[in-house]
Amino acid sequence: MAWPRKGASPAGRDSPTAEPGGPRHVAIIMDGNGRWAQGRGRPRLFGHQAGARRVREVVRACPDYGIEYLTVFAFSTENWKRTQMEVSGLMGLFRTYIRKEARELLRENVRVRFIGDRVKLDAKLRALMDELEQMTESCTRMNLTVALNYGGRDEVARATRRLAEDVAAGRLDPADVDEETLPRYLDTCVLPDPDLVIRTSGEARISNFLLWQSAYAEYEFTPILWPDFTPQHLVEILERYGRRERRFGKVPV
Ligand code: IPE
Ligand code: IPE
Ligand code: MG
Repeated sequence: MAWPRKGASPAGRDSPTAEPGGPRHVAIIMDGNGRWAQGRGRPRLFGHQAGARRVREVVRACPDYGIEYLTVFAFSTENWKRTQMEVSGLMGLFRTYIRKEARELLRENVRVRFIGDRVKLDAKLRALMDELEQMTESCTRMNLTVALNYGGRDEVARATRRLAEDVAAGRLDPADVDEETLPRYLDTCVLPDPDLVIRTSGEARISNFLLWQSAYAEYEFTPILWPDFTPQHLVEILERYGRRERRFGKVPV
């Protein structure tokens, strides 16, 4: 398989055409910003700023590769354990990023959604997130989901709470609960499951990302630090993905 598609015209601003055999939904654990900055003798926030610029490039490239959904891990429920300085620097960066990128995302026809627990985030950031979601609501070229204060276990716990409330209120019969039920309560209820999960920076763990949704995802771990990750690295990963055989428990034919 050749990426981008042979003869593909420069992307229009309409919906992408899914590459046959290519991933429809790619999720990325953008890791390594801190080490990238440290390697340059700079503060960690400098790495986060460089990382944010990469998000823009990768978002732009995805539709050309037939990717319909891109989900990026921006801040985990565990990242609150970092220093107050780093956490508030990151929160400021998210606000700036949304303000700066909103118009470009709209122009690129990208629909933005956020997953994670918003309750702990400050009111100003939450308002910007709501506004960006509303603003891009009718965009169709690509779906960008930003996981912010997201943890897979937290998400499943919150979903279970809502499911239990429906049972208690008589809206849901426990006998009807099956593996189709819980996903309807997850933050990702409108998204397909990821086909490919990429983690940068050489760590081979999922760090509480999309636990339920990634049951059958293909994983790719690359040593590249996130601020060095370019669309060309993505292309190489997509080529490898194209050579993989997804079996879903079946015997290959
Ligand atoms: C990922 O980079 C970004 C966030 C977790 C917010 P890190 O900040 O984890 O960078 P390393 O892993 O320390 O290099
Ligand atoms: C995962 O990276 C979270 C994000 C990329 C936002 P971490 O750097 O927080 O993960 P660990 O601590 O190395 O597992
Ligand atoms: Mg890290």
